Amino acid sequence: MSSFDSHLLTTPTTLAEMMSCLPQEGAVAFSLVDEDGCAKMLQATESLKFRDGTPVVGSPGNEVHQDFTICMNFEGKSALNDYQIAFEKQLNAAFELMAPQPYKTPFSFNDTAALRYHEGSTGISPHRDLVCFEAVIAILTLSGEAGFYICDDRDKTNAKRMEAKAGVMILMRGKNFAGIEERPFHFVEGITKERVGFGLRYNVREPRVRTQ
Ligand SMILES: [Fe+2]
Repeated sequence: MSSFDSHLLTTPTTLAEMMSCLPQEGAVAFSLVDEDGCAKMLQATESLKFRDGTPVVGSPGNEVHQDFTICMNFEGKSALNDYQIAFEKQLNAAFELMAPQPYKTPFSFNDTAALRYHEGSTGISPHRDLVCFEAVIAILTLSGEAGFYICDDRDKTNAKRMEAKAGVMILMRGKNFAGIEERPFHFVEGITKERVGFGLRYNVREPRVRTQ
């Protein structure tokens, strides 16, 4: 059995501490995966087939502009799965350490997406992730650099920057984390170096249904 545990820089306790900020902050950034782990995961993304993300999504008046290539819910085992298993194990333990527990366990993700933002990409404009994504949304950067911002609305009010760089997890509140229905607005910009990210989500409706 291949274990990714040794590449994780957190413990259930530190993860629980980070997540205690989520009701207030909406998202939190911290180092999660070591350099070797990122290299293994990045290599696994290289054999995936990326397609262009739809440039404009959302309803009229609430359009979201996005500029990346994506590969979702792909088959096959790789370091990406090994990472998911190791991270989920810690996440379950962390949820159980928190009082009250912010989401029921056993918890696992059922929606995966690898994203590539080319250098100079315009990123993604302010939006909220779909209501079907619950608990936490876990975006790990494997390479490159970008700004990930949490804000209050589509006009970027009160934008707070987090640096998305290799090994850094940006953990965001999904619907019903700690019983909170409201989801944070966020956007990505300032891609100064091609950025590859790997996102894990839990879709309460149906895995494999994404409009992006
Ligand atoms: Fe998003």
